[in-house]
Amino acid sequence: MSKILVSEQRNYMVKTVAEAKEISTVFLSSEGINDVEFGLPEIDDRYDIWRVPLLSSNNTLLGHVIINAKNGEIDKKKTTKKEVIDSRLIFSGQKEEKKVKSKKGKYPISPLPNMILKGDSREVLDTLPEESVDLIFTSPPYYNARTEYSDYATYEEYLEVIREVIRKSAKVLVEGRFFVMNVSPVLIPRASRSEASKRIAVPFDMHRLFIEEGFEFVDDIIWQKPEGAGWASGRGRRFAADRNPLQYKPVPVTENILVYRKKSDKLIDWFIRRHPNQELVQESKVGDDYEKTNIWYISPARDKRHRAIFPKELARRVIQYYSFKNDVVLDPFGGIGTTGKAAADLERRFVLIEKEEEYVEATVNDLRQLYFDIFDDIEIRR
Ligand SMILES: C[S@@+](CC[C@H](N)C(=O)[O-])C[C@H]1O[C@@H](n2cnc3c(N)ncnc32)[C@H](O)[C@@H]1O
Repeated sequence: MSKILVSEQRNYMVKTVAEAKEISTVFLSSEGINDVEFGLPEIDDRYDIWRVPLLSSNNTLLGHVIINAKNGEIDKKKTTKKEVIDSRLIFSGQKEEKKVKSKKGKYPISPLPNMILKGDSREVLDTLPEESVDLIFTSPPYYNARTEYSDYATYEEYLEVIREVIRKSAKVLVEGRFFVMNVSPVLIPRASRSEASKRIAVPFDMHRLFIEEGFEFVDDIIWQKPEGAGWASGRGRRFAADRNPLQYKPVPVTENILVYRKKSDKLIDWFIRRHPNQELVQESKVGDDYEKTNIWYISPARDKRHRAIFPKELARRVIQYYSFKNDVVLDPFGGIGTTGKAAADLERRFVLIEKEEEYVEATVNDLRQLYFDIFDDIEIRR
């Protein structure tokens, strides 16, 4: 009753649940989607929309039709795409997967919704279907050599944890798609005046892990920060004062963005030409102001809730260059959800995994406040 009142009060053109279902039925049949049932349509008066849930016969949520309540038009951008509904129908067991004869195989469309998953990636990744994400972008936890501050007894143990996450991520990544990692050498401060500080070349060790876990190397992009960003490390101060050769140490103002591709006999071109929604491929084209070289100049980001975030601009570039709209982007070390926010900005889906409750909480809060139009459809497991 109250829903009808809202639509009356607001003078919506689409006033009743029955009307919302009728509009959805016409739209779905024009799209060739026939095997779905409706959940209860609801008005969201913050956006003046009707949200009509689509269910499989065994009550799995397949997505939503979004109707502009004022004029009765379908909001195609926000409505779940046909290929995603089809993929979820297959995943829910209602529809049989068509056997595609071509040896090149079927185009993978992920059934996953937006997700925030609390837990250790080494366990949570096992709960996702194989080949269900289209891009991985992440920045691994920082290796801290001081064991009293560290989750890892040794550097080798740290690398083994990352290896396991790379291996399990590879399983859920579609063959032939990209895994991009932001990582940089770490500085180990000297323990006493008689010892020297050391640097560990973490990116080179990561490279070995990627190759051993079935990826091929694609690119090494340098993220360059403004000069001031590096002086806090303390590196180079001694040389700046004394200018003795051999003591030279440049101030680090870069981080590495390593780009790998999961091995496949499919060419990149296959993913573009065989995409079932060519409209989306067109809409995903990158504008003229793209980065022409492998040096990307971006200011670092700060957030008092997390010490080691990357800037959303970095995630935006990676996502734009290595995925299509509606693809699923995974971050197995989600932090406060920067990858998810950039993915949502760019109309991609996201899966974030983070083990610390405080960061999951920060992610959920940000998405609730700033991304309220998609928030209700995010699957949150904690
Ligand atoms: C460098 S931060 C990522 C920050 C993120 N890029 C952002 O912008 O918010 C790495 C994150 O990985 C989380 N983490 C470390 N080990 C993990 C594991 N095994 N599984 C899930 N999350 C983990 C840490 O709690 C930390 O928040």
